Amino acid sequence: MSQPYVIDQMISAKSIAARIEALAHEIREAFEGTDQLVVVGLLRGSFIFIADLVRELDLPVEVDFIEASSYGDGMESSREVRILKDMRGAIEGRDVLIVEDIVDTGHTLARVHDFVAARNPGRLKTIALLDKPARREVDFRADLIGFEIPDEFVVGYGIDYAQRDRNLPFIGKVRFT
Ligand code: IMP
Ligand code: MG
Repeated sequence: MSQPYVIDQMISAKSIAARIEALAHEIREAFEGTDQLVVVGLLRGSFIFIADLVRELDLPVEVDFIEASSYGDGMESSREVRILKDMRGAIEGRDVLIVEDIVDTGHTLARVHDFVAARNPGRLKTIALLDKPARREVDFRADLIGFEIPDEFVVGYGIDYAQRDRNLPFIGKVRFT
């Protein structure tokens, strides 16, 4: 298991909710006129974000999921990203929004973006609740970002440390004690 740590709040539940409302408007504009937007969440970290986001979206949506290999149980990116679970639905010619919890080195979202783009969707955009630009290793930026944060390891609102703390309603940073 992990060393003992405490969690300091970084972004409140209220700030997250306010930001999501604004992001939903941006998504609506980006996908103006869509007959049905396929919202694809990356398991598992995006599950709370996607749940709140789709409820703010005034558009017809379909929800699907992809799972990519991640950190395992630590704090280091694996860099070699594999797709563990594919979408269930076909997306050729359809509007797609990929939803990620946090972009760190950028390997995961860049890889998933290319994987989805290879299926020839219609309009394709990516959104990440959090972005840590200081940690970037590949040239990739999500089209929409909730909050830029400093180089801190964070948990809560779906995001875990060794599978813990996903259920916190806010985003907090991990501080080892
Ligand atoms: P990347 O491939 O390095 O961009 O990493 C992206 C993935 O690493 C995200 O989907 C998260 O699951 C995980 N990750 C990155 N930063 C953090 C963090 O601060 N806390 C928890 N998980 C993180
Ligand atoms: Mg993840």
